Amino acid sequence: MKTRITEMFGIQHPIIQGGMHFVGFAEMAAAVSNAGGLGIITGLTQGTPAKLAAEIARCKQMTSKPFGVNLTFLPALTQPDYPGYIKAIIDGGVKVVETAGNNPQKWMPALKEAGIKVIHKCTSVRHSLKAEAIGCDAVSVDGFECGGHPGEDDVPNFILLPRAADELKIPFVASGGMADGRSLVAALALGAEGMNMGTRFIATKEAPVHDNVKKALVAASELDTRLVMRPLRNTERVLKNAAVDRLLEKEKALGANIKFEDIIGEVAGVYPKVMTDGQMDAGAWSCGMVAGLIYDVPSVKELIDRIMHDAEEIIGTRLKRFAAG
Ligand SMILES: Cc1cc2nc3c(=O)[nH]c(=O)nc-3n(C[C@H](O)[C@H](O)[C@H](O)COP(=O)(O)O)c2cc1C
Repeated sequence: MKTRITEMFGIQHPIIQGGMHFVGFAEMAAAVSNAGGLGIITGLTQGTPAKLAAEIARCKQMTSKPFGVNLTFLPALTQPDYPGYIKAIIDGGVKVVETAGNNPQKWMPALKEAGIKVIHKCTSVRHSLKAEAIGCDAVSVDGFECGGHPGEDDVPNFILLPRAADELKIPFVASGGMADGRSLVAALALGAEGMNMGTRFIATKEAPVHDNVKKALVAASELDTRLVMRPLRNTERVLKNAAVDRLLEKEKALGANIKFEDIIGEVAGVYPKVMTDGQMDAGAWSCGMVAGLIYDVPSVKELIDRIMHDAEEIIGTRLKRFAAG
């Protein structure tokens, strides 16, 4: 399938694996890229620019296909060494960067000069237009359904995607709630040129996470996510567990007076415990409503092949039947 996204990134299928903390290692990114999608290493997960450089080198040994690096710009007080991470990306010859969080404007000249394509993750039309205005090549439009940070506007993809299509000139992918061939066809119908998946890719054989995480995703339904940190305007969609129940109790009790320090036990340092050690109640970890559409743990290639097969079948058979009247 050819779209503006496959052409831009030099990939076979219009499917991207979004950056994911403590999931986006070389094994994950290479498996997606080898299957014809665009795999993405999560920059900040590596810990230092030198470790990111090593992870990029490792990924290059596992795939000759294009892959990207995610750089999440946090509102944190002590900022990560972003210039160092950017240098590691450029020196590593990476050709796609997925930016997320704060506006990436400051880093655009260096990235553009190195010939890097930038896809910025946005949860609203106004942020998408801003990304277009500052020279981003594409946008990943993240609806309210998404795992991770859906922003504060709460607009689901059935509205957000066609709104983005009405306003944007640069191509965009649909992100949040994407799981299968139906998702891809719907995304294309609503104006996107492909899709980005997070949660679905965690439940694959190659995802470098503990089996408990994969089992939890297969067991979860679409009713099992919760929004946390809304009072801090840092809303995150996470899988419900004992720690999340505790966190929500604190939010209820403290109301508008809540501070980050009050919930540090439920949100800080959680990812290695969950993703690596399989301690499923260690804290709040991102998960999309799409967990309700995850029934198995296939290989990444099986998943992507199935998505493309089903999408083509839906377009060529089901939709054609309706079009024919
Ligand atoms: C466990 C997990 C960790 C994530 N970590 C990041 C991250 O570090 N940076 C980022 O930009 N997005 C992160 N995301 C968001 C994904 O890249 C993607 O936008 C999102 O998962 C799409 O929604 P879906 O889960 O419904 O597919 C994360 C998502 C999950 C599920």
